[in-house]
Formats: sequence, C-alpha cells, structure tokens
Amino acid sequence: NQLGVVAVGFSGGQPKPGVEAAPLALIKSGLLDSLRNDLEFVVHHDNQVHDFTEYFPTSDPPLIISNARVPMLNSLTVSNVTCAISAQVYEHASKGRLVLTLGGDHSIAVGSIAGTAKAIRERHDGREIAVVWVDAHTDINTPETSGSGNIHGMPVAFISGLAKPPRESPSVFGWIKKHHMINISKLVYIGLRDVDPGEKIILRENGIRAFSMHDVDKYGIGKVMDMALDYLNCGPGQEGMPIHLSFDVDALDPVFAPSTGTPVRGGLTLREGDFICESIHETGCLVAMDLVEVNPLLGENDLARKETIRSGCSLVRCALGESLL
Ligand code: ARG
Ligand code: MN
Ligand code: MN
Ligand code: MN
Repeated sequence: NQLGVVAVGFSGGQPKPGVEAAPLALIKSGLLDSLRNDLEFVVHHDNQVHDFTEYFPTSDPPLIISNARVPMLNSLTVSNVTCAISAQVYEHASKGRLVLTLGGDHSIAVGSIAGTAKAIRERHDGREIAVVWVDAHTDINTPETSGSGNIHGMPVAFISGLAKPPRESPSVFGWIKKHHMINISKLVYIGLRDVDPGEKIILRENGIRAFSMHDVDKYGIGKVMDMALDYLNCGPGQEGMPIHLSFDVDALDPVFAPSTGTPVRGGLTLREGDFICESIHETGCLVAMDLVEVNPLLGENDLARKETIRSGCSLVRCALGESLL
C-alpha cells in the first residue's frame, strides 16, 4: 500500500490553457487525503506540482516533417518534459510503489508509461506491461497522420515505437529506448468514439484490441471488461500481468466530465468509468495509473468544473480500491 504521486502541471501537448491546473485542483479537493485516510495508502509525494519549465528548450518552432499534413507542435518541449516525467515515475515504480500520475494533457503518458515499463522490466526480469487506455480517442496518430500537430493525439504511437524520432529532429523522443516501450499486442482501448481515419488504419494494420462505445452498448461494460482483462491475461484464473491504466477523463460523457479540452458526446457514464477502474483494481495487477485532460478552466460554469474534478477523483479512488465490499 505504498503510493507514489507525480503531479504534472503541463499543457504543451495541446493548445488550450488550463489543463496544467488540474493536479492542484484534484489535490485541493481532497484526493490524496482520501487515499491516505480512507484507502490507507502511504502516499509518497514531494508536495509539488511540476511544471517542468526548467526542461523547456529556449526555442521550439513548429517542426516540419516530410509527408506530414501539419507541423508537429512543441515537439522538443513535450519530449524533454516526458523524459523528466519518466524518471520521476521510474523512481517510484522501481521501489515497488503503485504510481499515480496526475496530468496534464495526455502527452504526459509517454513519460509515465516509459517509467513504468522500465521499472517493471528491471524488477521482474524483462517482464512487459499491459496498458489499458480509456479514452474517447486512440491518441495513436503519428506525426504523419496527425491532422492537428498536437502531441496529445500521438502518445501511443511514440511509446509503442510505431512512430520513431523524426529524421528532421532526432532528439525529439530520442530518449525513448527499447526498455521504455510497450508491446502493442498488450494494449487495450475502452470508450472510443472519435477516431481519426488514419488512426483506424493503424488499428487495423496492427490488430490492436479496441472496445468502442458501440461495444459498451452492445455487450455492457461488465462483458467488455471480462473480454479486455481476459485478452491481457488478467482474468480470473489467469496468470496476470502488470497493468498501467491511462485514463483520459474525456472517455466519460461530457455530462459527467464537461471540463476537458476535446469533449465528445455519447461517452461512458461515471458508473461505467468507475466500473472499469474497479475491475482493474480487482485483478490485483494495477501498477500505475494516469488521470489526464481534466481542464478546470473549461466548462460552462463552476458546477461543471466541480463535477469534472469530482468525477476524476472518483475514478482514481475506484482504481485504488474504494467501494468494493
Ligand atoms: N485525434 C485528435 C488529434 O490527433 C484528437 C486527440 C485528442 N486527444 C486527447 N488526449 N484528448 O489531435
Ligand atoms: Mn514530484
Ligand atoms: Mn481523449
Ligand atoms: Mn487521450
């Protein structure tokens, strides 16, 4: 019951300000206190929200890449920051702590997953991690397929090696080594409903396991989780493997999480989101979780912002073991 917390106030993977304010808003609303007091975690946190500005390059112009539709934005900044995040997550995970990373936009998952993957390989001689990516989006664009240039739409491509450091600027994600990477066959998506055409081709060509909202409607979230966990060898009676849960709050319907940068209608109910987290907790395989894309500056009004933060706290508490009888 040792928990490492990395609070990442970073928004450079996308253009809307505010997402860097999420960690403090989540912590202020009592998230870490409840993990300590109700779930009895020993919480290791340096009481800082890192903005990682000390790692920002002096200049980071849009990176023009051959065959890309648009330039890649803040490429060196995101690369440097995610490298620093990976070191912090690794530090916790290498001591056997469960690691909670509070974002920030979803580009930060390049760092958190890299840190988890490296630590688990070292602690369990070469073992790979599984990733459960809960999101309205697949975030698997390469710099070539992206229509936005925003790196929060690309983290899965870089952490899986589907996208390589660009020839035009090899130091962009040049820090990602083999031991940081994930195996694309050990990735599962849940909650999808806004996938770009180029991403659909990537999913198909790589045989990536994905449960869209259509599947949630068709089978129900219970069956979807049975299938997802069985696929990852984490079902009942199976051997299990370490799971990194990367939860984008926009997987939830905007009714429950309106304050986010790229909301998409027709999403998960809060209960379905909580159920996903509870199911993963129950496997006993969870080694790390990200909660990302909460943006306390967006949303219609104060109630909308409060509800989004409450939803985010609920997801984390469920993943970490709340409310199971
Ligand atoms: N697919 C779009 C893009 O590449 C949207 C990505 C949204 N990602 C997110 N983490 N909210 O820009
Ligand atoms: Mn820290
Ligand atoms: Mn998303
Ligand atoms: Mn995302």
